[in-house]
Amino acid sequence: MDELKRQAAARALEHVRDGMKLGLGTGSTAKHFVELLGERVRAGLDVIGVPTSEATRDDALRCGIRLTTLDDIDRLDLTVDGADEIDPALNLIKGGGGALLREKIVATASDRMIVIADDSKWVEALGRFPLPVEVVPFGLKATQRAIARAFAESGVSGQMVLRKGKDGHVFVTDGGHWIVDAHLGRIIDAPRLAGLLAAIPGVVEHGLFIGLAGMAVLAGADGIRVVER
Ligand code: A5P
Repeated sequence: MDELKRQAAARALEHVRDGMKLGLGTGSTAKHFVELLGERVRAGLDVIGVPTSEATRDDALRCGIRLTTLDDIDRLDLTVDGADEIDPALNLIKGGGGALLREKIVATASDRMIVIADDSKWVEALGRFPLPVEVVPFGLKATQRAIARAFAESGVSGQMVLRKGKDGHVFVTDGGHWIVDAHLGRIIDAPRLAGLLAAIPGVVEHGLFIGLAGMAVLAGADGIRVVER
């Protein structure tokens, strides 16, 4: 599986050009991309990156990649990131690693997003992977009730679980928020649900990435498949 992730990362690297400003994703697949990019940088490639998490920031610095922030540049040329699920319209569920907020800000600030994954992430409909919804701790129960109403309005339902870290304590995102993972099974209308969730005051962001990825690079046992929108 790890080898497939690395193959997808290597293929995405072919789209990187000298002088590019890059969004650097988070997760085990994106980590391969950062490591391979670091090899190219050490061989003379001149790029600058914006990391989507503290973990990626550390990895990128370790790999010798120059970093900047979205406050210091205008747009990014390309973001390369992993995903938890990818559907045929290239809509995604992201946030399994908890970095969805910065990932979505960075992807939205990019001219192009390439999503890289092993082909187990490809699904006909999103929702088997629990949908991460990042919330502010204040008013959690009220926010969860509003989220449940948004689910009902878009024709889905399911259990919501407050994410815990490996230490058993509530998981806290890089932005200081909490994550509720919603077990929906199958999301019927992802764009509609995305809009409803975004309108809830206590929701900081959600893991539905609608219309952001322009290309998916999927590595499987039979080779690499590239899907474009
Ligand atoms: C991080 O918050 C996520 O969005 C990851 O991009 C996603 O969970 C994919 O991670 P893996 O590459 O580790 O499967």
